[in-house]
Amino acid sequence: NMIHLKDYRPPAFLVDFVDLVFELKETDTRVKSTLTLRRNPAAAPGDAATRPPLVLDGRDMALVSVLMDGRPLATEDFQVDERSLTLPDPPDALTLEITTRIQPQENRSLEGLYRSDGMFCTQCEAEGFRKITYFPDRPDVMAAYTVTLIADRSKYPVLLSNGNRVDAGELSDGRHWVKWEDPFKKPCYLFALVAGDLFCLKDTFRTKSGRDVRLRIYVEHENRDKCDYAMQALKKAMAWDEKTFGLEYDLDDYMIVAVNDFNMGAMENKGLNIFNSKFVLARQDTATDTDFWNIDRVIAHEYFHNWTGNRVTLRNWFQLSLKEGLTVFRDQEFTADITSRPVKRISDVRTLRSFQFPEDAGPMAHPVRPSAYIKMDNFYTVTVYEKGAEVIRMIHRILGPEDFRKGMDLYFERHDGQAVTIEDFVGAMADASGRDLGQFMLWYAQAGTPVVTAARAYDPVRKTYTLTFSQFCPPTPDAAEKAPMHIPVAVGLIAPDGGDFPLQLSGEKTPGPTTRVLELRKADESFTFVNVPAPPVPSILRGFSAPVKLRAGCSDAEVRFRFAHDSDPFNRWDAGQTLFAKVILERAAEIRAGRPPVMDDALVAAFRQTLLDETEDRAFIAHAVTLPGEPELATLMSESDLIDPDAVHQARRFVIQTLAQTLRDDFETVFERNRDTGPYRVDPVSVGRRSLKNAALAYLGGLETPEAIQRLFSEFEAADNMTDTMAALTILSHIPCDERIQAIDRFYERWRHDVLVLDKWFSIQAAAQLSDTPATVRKLLDHPAFSIRNPNKVRALVGVFCSLNPWCFHSPTGEGYALLADQVAALDGFNPMIAARMAGMFNHWKKYEPVRRNLMKAQLERIKALPNLSGNVYEIVSKALA
Ligand code: ARG
Ligand code: ZN
Repeated sequence: NMIHLKDYRPPAFLVDFVDLVFELKETDTRVKSTLTLRRNPAAAPGDAATRPPLVLDGRDMALVSVLMDGRPLATEDFQVDERSLTLPDPPDALTLEITTRIQPQENRSLEGLYRSDGMFCTQCEAEGFRKITYFPDRPDVMAAYTVTLIADRSKYPVLLSNGNRVDAGELSDGRHWVKWEDPFKKPCYLFALVAGDLFCLKDTFRTKSGRDVRLRIYVEHENRDKCDYAMQALKKAMAWDEKTFGLEYDLDDYMIVAVNDFNMGAMENKGLNIFNSKFVLARQDTATDTDFWNIDRVIAHEYFHNWTGNRVTLRNWFQLSLKEGLTVFRDQEFTADITSRPVKRISDVRTLRSFQFPEDAGPMAHPVRPSAYIKMDNFYTVTVYEKGAEVIRMIHRILGPEDFRKGMDLYFERHDGQAVTIEDFVGAMADASGRDLGQFMLWYAQAGTPVVTAARAYDPVRKTYTLTFSQFCPPTPDAAEKAPMHIPVAVGLIAPDGGDFPLQLSGEKTPGPTTRVLELRKADESFTFVNVPAPPVPSILRGFSAPVKLRAGCSDAEVRFRFAHDSDPFNRWDAGQTLFAKVILERAAEIRAGRPPVMDDALVAAFRQTLLDETEDRAFIAHAVTLPGEPELATLMSESDLIDPDAVHQARRFVIQTLAQTLRDDFETVFERNRDTGPYRVDPVSVGRRSLKNAALAYLGGLETPEAIQRLFSEFEAADNMTDTMAALTILSHIPCDERIQAIDRFYERWRHDVLVLDKWFSIQAAAQLSDTPATVRKLLDHPAFSIRNPNKVRALVGVFCSLNPWCFHSPTGEGYALLADQVAALDGFNPMIAARMAGMFNHWKKYEPVRRNLMKAQLERIKALPNLSGNVYEIVSKALA
């Protein structure tokens, strides 16, 4: 039951209007749906004998009645099975009135209509609407909706759906009703409803054309004092999209509802976004700086979808990156503009390398536009989202910001109100700019991370400098042979004094800027610069201009030089990471060979110079002095060897402790210099200072002396904000001592009534690099505050343990693997989407040394053999084992 892109056919029937009436009750919910349907003129008509039937998707519900054009359908005029309702020979235009009964209170999949705490809410993307009523559940069927909600007034005073509230009334039995109308045609995955007893934070936003939009954030009453930041985030996002893309909001109301039980981050339902509460609720004592920035990011992301996703939507789910890659690109640009552009770039590339590169090199590798799937839910991936955003960023770089903006304008001019494809988007970009993006389309079709090799040659007589590139894309499960791609490579040449040479390509009359974008199109290609007075150090792939692995063959001295001087902050940071990774992996090799590791003095000197650099942004320095994490190091190790998580862990710790011992006074200085001087604030400068201060504290804590432990404990106690609390507690959590236990207990006592803060309490313990962590995680699964039904809890405990604590997860006893497999089995019974996410943590089993590899394989086989395995988990484990 694979679905293939090549099998796409337009829908046989279109739906013009949908009228929905929900009677929401604790025991049973009735849905009456009235659909106005007609045959699609664009679909293959067929003749009288081959006219396609009308097939409506639907599952997990009871059909009460079907009326066609006001009359009950005879039993021979329709069929119902587990997955659909079919009218074999309907007229060309008809209305259907379908009444069904569903059980939202039993729905633990968090897909369709379900209950979270006391409220009713929905999640329809990708294919959840079919669990609410019978409908052609595909994004290319766009309709106008009216929705009436009926529920008990005292329990559910707030009744929300998409669009405008047009009417309301009381019933004699204590129930009330509200009617909503959404004037914009939309696919059913954007449908939403909410019913509950909620606090509402109100504000307004005046659009650039002078309309006032009512802004509303709905949360549980106990969280009323945690919504202000989210409201400000929304207003920032609305203003930014007007200024940057000229895009204005289109309805009179914009509503956001926070729910605790949610499978993903948030959902862009038209006019009624539903959010995982972790991306709404924040106060300085409950949320870290990272949480605040994630709120900005996710609020903006969902808001931006109103144009990229909703006004222009998808023809089919294969096009997912058309909305997600583009919207992630837009939210990245938003964050870059309101915080620090280089720091945002660095953290995005970190995510890409830690998670997307491995995905692209593993069993689930797929192109940004996948060509086949079993369960679409499995393709909400870092490849579709983050690599998809990189692909948009490359178009932006190739065209430049002005032509990119023209392309966006043309895209909306052509396709507003339509369900379109990635070709339509790239076509608008090509037409608006006059650029040929034909070869560029391969970025959407070929999986795998291309490897770009650069060789250089300086001619001291002619004063020319030649860069010769070759590109190669490794085979992936979907394709062995890959064609050369169109790759923008931003390049600078650094002079011996550390400044940049102006760049003049051979054939050009005058020198241009100091960073140039070279466009690779062939497997091998050379570019020659003229008037280069002295041999430069090349700085290639500035700003990470393409999602590739670069092999530039630079010497350590050259990389150190770039770490000190590169004017491109991304490449400067990246030079440091290259040095650190090399040093750590060399130490790992020594450890594996049974030799004591030794430290590289030149690296310590380069590190110190950066640590004490007062001219740079503090947040940048904090990134520059943070070593690559164990997951990233494991990926690097897997390129030449099998992964040995013990060696990676020990080597990284050795490097941290050596740096801490050697540069102790410097870390003290940096720590003191960057303490907060006034009240807590979330502006970029304050956040940067805190992150550098806490990076220094992490090194000092790594010394693990009684003195260091005392200092961590008192920092933990004295902190007046969650960022500093978590920083001290995290560092302490890796040190086996009484203070650690005390701090963890105090944290629990203080926050036991706040479910979101408790997620942090679970994560801290799951990420602790201690040999008994696997046993601790087992125990925490039975803690009264843990709930396997709540995805945030599962991610905080199981997800963090498996993905952010590789040394413990990959314990050679296999207990981490057994724990994960047990959770997958338990989750699959009621929430296959989350079960599949967790099962994916085994994806890279083949890259590990034989003991671990075999243990993981055994767990995968155990999962695959489970009775009643969901399609979601089956797709993941069968690909992993293939
Ligand atoms: N469209 C949502 C977003 O990116 C994500 C929805 C994911 N849903 C799912 N079933 N995987 O903002
Ligand atoms: Zn999205």
